[in-house]
Amino acid sequence: MKIALGADHGGYELKEEINKYLKENGYEVKDFGTFSAESCDYPDYSLKVAEAVANKEFEFGILICGTGIGIGIAANKVPGIRAALCSDTFSAHATREHNDANILTMGQRVVGAGLAIDIVKTFLETKFEGDRHIKRINKITEIEKKYNK
Ligand code: RB5
Repeated sequence: MKIALGADHGGYELKEEINKYLKENGYEVKDFGTFSAESCDYPDYSLKVAEAVANKEFEFGILICGTGIGIGIAANKVPGIRAALCSDTFSAHATREHNDANILTMGQRVVGAGLAIDIVKTFLETKFEGDRHIKRINKITEIEKKYNK
């Protein structure tokens, strides 16, 4: 499974931990940066990862900033992206089953590395349920279309 990974300076260290976990567990990872803890702008990394996922080059993206909020808000501006902020495994499970989320966002200042890795594992291993959730996702796509003319 191919995973696109990105973070700003606020998420850099957690990104490194997640990159290591993914590689050790057989995932194919592309790290889109940032590559140091030097200050940078999170939308730059949201855009790179979100475009790569929307273009279907990668099955999922993982984005990390200080809170997981800004980097997810920016990612959700790219049509076809459903980025979900998760700080617990229940949400990670539910957002895959119900929302077919394709990007996971987390906050390095919110979750520790141990919990973050459990969240990543849950997110990547949970399948979309389909069924009644499909029409709801189609309605999200309709909203995108309405505002992307
Ligand atoms: C950077 O200081 C911080 O604002 C950023 O990582 C993120 O938390 C934004 O939502």
